[in-house]
Amino acid sequence: MKNARLTNEQLLVDESLLFVGNGYLGLRGNFEEGYPSHFQTIRGTYINGFYEDVLINYGESAYGFPKTAQKMLNIIDGQTIVIRIDDDEFSLFEGEVLSFDRKLDIWEGYNERNIDWISPKGHHLLIKIRKMTSFEQLELAVIEYAVTSVNYSGNISILSTLDGNVINYADENDPRVSSEQARWLYVDNVGIRDRNFAQVTSVTKQSGLKVTATMGHDIDVEYEVKENIIVAFKHDSIQQGETLTFSKFLVYVDSVRSKESENEGLKILKEAIEKSSQYWFDIQKRHLETFWKVAKIEVDGDASVEEALNYSAYQLYASAGRDAFSNISAKGLSGEGYEGHYFWDTEIYMLPFFILTQPDIAKNLLAFRYQTLDMARDRALMMGHKKGAKIPWRTISGTECSAYFPAGSAQYHINADVAYAYIQYYLFSQDIDFMKQIGYEVILETARIWLEIGHFDDKGQFKIPAVTGPDEYTAIVNNNYYTNSMAKYHMYWVCKLSREFGETDVEWYRKMQKQLIIDEAEIFEMEKAYQHMYLPYSEELGIYWQDDTFKDKADWDFESTPKNKYPLLLHYHPLTIYRYRVLKQADTLLAYFLLDHVSEEIMNRSYDFYERLTTHDSSLSPCVHSIMAAKLHKAEKAYQFFMKTVRLDLDNLHHNTKDGLHIANAGGAYMSIVYGFAGLRIKEDGLHLNPIMPKEWKRICFRIYYQQALITITMAEKLTIETTKPIEVVVNHKAYTIEDEIHLEYEVTSK
Ligand code: BGC
Repeated sequence: MKNARLTNEQLLVDESLLFVGNGYLGLRGNFEEGYPSHFQTIRGTYINGFYEDVLINYGESAYGFPKTAQKMLNIIDGQTIVIRIDDDEFSLFEGEVLSFDRKLDIWEGYNERNIDWISPKGHHLLIKIRKMTSFEQLELAVIEYAVTSVNYSGNISILSTLDGNVINYADENDPRVSSEQARWLYVDNVGIRDRNFAQVTSVTKQSGLKVTATMGHDIDVEYEVKENIIVAFKHDSIQQGETLTFSKFLVYVDSVRSKESENEGLKILKEAIEKSSQYWFDIQKRHLETFWKVAKIEVDGDASVEEALNYSAYQLYASAGRDAFSNISAKGLSGEGYEGHYFWDTEIYMLPFFILTQPDIAKNLLAFRYQTLDMARDRALMMGHKKGAKIPWRTISGTECSAYFPAGSAQYHINADVAYAYIQYYLFSQDIDFMKQIGYEVILETARIWLEIGHFDDKGQFKIPAVTGPDEYTAIVNNNYYTNSMAKYHMYWVCKLSREFGETDVEWYRKMQKQLIIDEAEIFEMEKAYQHMYLPYSEELGIYWQDDTFKDKADWDFESTPKNKYPLLLHYHPLTIYRYRVLKQADTLLAYFLLDHVSEEIMNRSYDFYERLTTHDSSLSPCVHSIMAAKLHKAEKAYQFFMKTVRLDLDNLHHNTKDGLHIANAGGAYMSIVYGFAGLRIKEDGLHLNPIMPKEWKRICFRIYYQQALITITMAEKLTIETTKPIEVVVNHKAYTIEDEIHLEYEVTSK
């Protein structure tokens, strides 16, 4: 029987789709026994925040270019398990596969394969394999096997390895993954510990980091050390009708978090094995029950949409760093695209999910920018600024890793994006202490950059030259609308918090003034800058220009661009792209969504203008169009863009899911429901909803936390809002106080 999922192309995609992760550790969904030797595989295990510093080789360098970049490393591989009966090695590519299925169980937190297989010699086996990384013990991965013999009695052997010979994936033709194939991780120590456990420790050369992998099994095995590989094996026998079960335990401890990675690894492993694999699968399920109580999204009318939405929520959860050393990389822990870097993706696309459903994780993600603020300060000085902090465009430990500044360091908007996320969290939680302890400092330091790079022109308007906005198909322009309007909002908030907190807590403000060397003239300057911020507007078209260059450019010739020339970045020189009105991703429309500050007429005209110029070559784009279309009552469009978002990875729509999942897009799928169809916004005057139900569905239901209340929002024939504490909500511009439950009319698009 041919199984479409067994082609090499699909296997690579499935390695990403079925990865198991817990925010700290990620294992790609590789087959334990491997593929045929001529197949390609990206066999990967990753730790969030574990990296090597790699020299950047510039053809022509210039002042201030980062000298090194960080790279998330593929670490010691413990996935391999091989089963042999009567000299036949189990493989889905040998013998006869009577049935095969695999899945990621997002409700219970593991991936699973079920195989009904006849070996080349005719022995019939049923094999079930479950693999997970634990949400309760982040260093732990468990792989569980159950092998049932249908017609065979005889020998069976199990071979299981821990392999230090690992390298990262590279593709020199795709700028979105690393182009350099090299070894970054060196085995330092290999050995057997306490007779029953195997351990490999590897080190990097530049970043000075170390990782230890410790392996054990819940059956007795013998070990053999072969250079950098430890092989565990067991020769056993099986009877017809019998099921043999065993589990492999892997523990990864790194020097970023522990000084004693070897001893700590061994300790965790021993305790884990003692508790049994069943215990870990059981508490994984319980852990996720708590998660799903809030995170689950229900959509009646399309089961595949509901499945894909919850898949996205799960992958966000599986990707988010849980400690001070990590954040969420563009691909989470599912692959090596963008080399494990953290971008603005976190603040603008992923954080909304965490703020609304997992506020503690949100807080931690926000705190990451505080932990790394000193590096952002150094970077600002390096960029020629006198003060302030410049958030790196892409990073792991906090230093700038972008080698292509027109679409990297020039994206100053990331400073405002980080501030925006802090403000959203504050509006959501009213957590004044958090803002005083870390939020204010981050917002102030990042806002200082606007005064550094902007200036007042002869009419007194504040202008910001030479930046790149979110749309990477337009680079280094003056007065990018997104950047200017976000900077305006950013400085407004610095002034507001300085005033409000300064009045209510004089002592704290004095301390801040001293520590951050704030004088009132600076705050006054920011006030003037945001009040007189220049925003490029076309009187003729009645829209905001994306930037000052837009009016002088011709439209890209879409009609003569064949489908196979997309994404444009892989087929045209950047300058060719920069010369035209063509967008990689939402830019002005994104500002409208986040700030919700211009009239619907302008938004409407802008939507039509920019939509036809947008390629959506970035996965960060369709969701914004869906949200804005919903806002503008374009239900059909909102639905179409939502469908492009929600199945982007499941259907491999960008043809690069093999390099990892598009986690910002997963956040975008969530936002398309909550901010799009439900029209939720958290503003200074409270929580807003402007719901619109697409005709394709009958009911949408989700839960959010808001100011210590758990709120259930259901859109069916009526809009129902249930809350565990009294709240104020503005629905379709009308304010309501809800004690526990309310039912309201809203816009349902007809069939
Ligand atoms: C997008 C950026 C994004 C990056 C990582 C690029 O293709 O243009 O906006 O931050 O991918 O997801």
